[in-house]
Formats: sequence, structure tokens, C-alpha cells
Amino acid sequence: MSRIAFIGAGKMAEAILKELLRVEWAGKESIVLSDVDRERLESMAVEYGTITTPSNPDAARDAEIVLLAVKPQKLEEVLRELSGVIDAGQLVISIAMGKSTEFIEALLPEGIPVVRVMPNNPAMVGAAVSVLSYGRHADEEARRRAKEVFSCLGEVYEIAEMLQDQAMAISGCGPAYFYVIAEALCDAGVRLGLDRSLARKLVTGTMIGAGTMMRDSGEHPAQLKDMVTSPGGSTIAALEALEEAGLRNAFYKAVAAAWRRAKEV
Ligand SMILES: NC(=O)c1ccc[n+]([C@@H]2O[C@H](COP(=O)([O-])OP(=O)(O)OC[C@H]3O[C@@H](n4cnc5c(N)ncnc54)[C@H](OP(=O)(O)O)[C@@H]3O)[C@@H](O)[C@H]2O)c1
Repeated sequence: MSRIAFIGAGKMAEAILKELLRVEWAGKESIVLSDVDRERLESMAVEYGTITTPSNPDAARDAEIVLLAVKPQKLEEVLRELSGVIDAGQLVISIAMGKSTEFIEALLPEGIPVVRVMPNNPAMVGAAVSVLSYGRHADEEARRRAKEVFSCLGEVYEIAEMLQDQAMAISGCGPAYFYVIAEALCDAGVRLGLDRSLARKLVTGTMIGAGTMMRDSGEHPAQLKDMVTSPGGSTIAALEALEEAGLRNAFYKAVAAAWRRAKEV
């Protein structure tokens, strides 16, 4: 019996399995991958030594955990394929954006424990934030196992499922917001004459440092901002310019747009 089967062996599946192998939660012989793309399966087998199969049912049949990592649009088709081979002794985890546990449960036999998870892109470096919600049959053991898997990738938070799309608009899409801010800051540094690679190092280190301050100090971000904003100084001049450009309002709008889009999937 494999510990975990990935249905869909794309970018997120790779990020997750890499971490599971790195922290030795699973050995390569206990991970099975299935995908419609045979070349992808071959390259994953070479890279990670995991078992691969083009058959989703074969991958799922004997797995303790079946992790659904296909695009949301493919989820129904995949669940119809799997419904004959999955039983209540297995745990089904879905990372498909916008697809509810109710939707998944309806396409599987009665009684299957289902957990919905929204990890994010820093999973690729073991620094994810993952948000978990539980289906009707996810008992304590199912919850514990799902948390254990995603704790291998970083931080794990449980939320009511009705708030999944809202959380996705923050932590799921969030890395892209920070990448755009980082890119803009690098360009702004270059505009002032900084070497691009130095600008990038300064921006990266500053983002990590600010994030670490927020996490480790426990202070409110407004408090931390006040600490670096001296009267009449450069930082407050910069903040004034950001306010004039509508930065806060831009984030309200961006997050609401992401949330609306998630509901359309
Ligand atoms: N990327 C992120 O940062 C992120 C974050 C959180 C959650 N997610 C969720 O993770 C899921 C996967 O995203 P991803 O970025 O890893 O996508 P991806 O790279 O496109 O991976 C999906 C894989 O599934 C394969 N596939 C398509 N139809 C299939 C089928 N019927 N059976 C088996 N495999 C099939 C695809 O093959 P083809 O390419 O040939 O179609 C592809 O290799 C999505 O539901 C997404 O919402 C992603």
C-alpha cells in the first residue's frame, strides 16, 4: 500500500512531493503519481524515483491518501473515474481551487473523508501557508493526517469552508502580490541608479526581514511601520506617496477581484 497517490503530477504535486521526500514523511517507493501527460510522468520518475502510472484508478486504489492535484476544471472527470476504487478507509485531499468538499463528496461513495486544502506557491521551498477545511466525514484521524502532510510544507491553518475563497484571495494569490511589489521596488532602485542584482538582494532581504518581524515580534504591522517612520523623515514621505497612489484601495480591490473570480470556477 502506498502512503500517498497524487492524481495530477503538475507543479503543485511536485512541490508537495519534494517536501514529503525531503522531510522523510514518505519514501519514494510509497509515493505514486498519475497524470495524462506520459512525458511528465517519465521525467518525474527519473527526477524523484517515485512510482508512476497513467491510470488514475490504479494510482488511487491502494493509497492511504489520495491527493487530487488536477486543475479545478478536471476535477469532476477525475472523481468519476475514482469513485469505483475509493473506500471510506482512504483519505481524499483536494487542492483544487474553488471546489467544495460537498462537490467532491457528491461524486464519491458515501462516507469518504474529504479534506480541502489551499496551499500556496512557496510550498516549492517548504515555506507554504496552507488553509484546510473538512468534509462531513473527515474525523479526527483524517484531520490529523491532512495537517501532518501539509505541515511538511510550512504553516497550516484550519478555517470554516465558507471562508476558503476569501483565504485563497489572500494566501493563495498573495505570493503574486508580493512578487509584483518586489519587482516594482527593484525597478525603482534601478531608476535611482542601483545595480539590479544588488537591488534584488536588498528587496528580498527586506521582505524576508519584515515578514520575520511580523511573525516573531507579534506586533501589529501598523506598530512596526510606526517604529521606522520618523517625524518629517524619508519613510513618511514615501508612505504619503503610496497613499496618494491609492495603495490600500488597490489591495481591497485586488483581493475582492480574486475572491469573485474563485467563485466563478
Ligand atoms: N500552482 C499553485 O500555486 C497552486 C496553489 C494552490 C492550489 N493549486 C491547485 O493545484 C491544482 C494543480 O495546479 P498546478 O499548478 O499544479 O497545475 P498543473 O501544473 O497544470 O498540473 C496539473 C496536472 O494534471 C494533469 N491532468 C490533466 N487532466 C488530468 C486527468 N484527467 N488525470 C490526471 N492528470 C491530469 C495535467 O496534465 P496536462 O497539463 O497535460 O493537462 C497536469 O500535468 C489546481 O487545482 C490548482 O487550483 C495550485
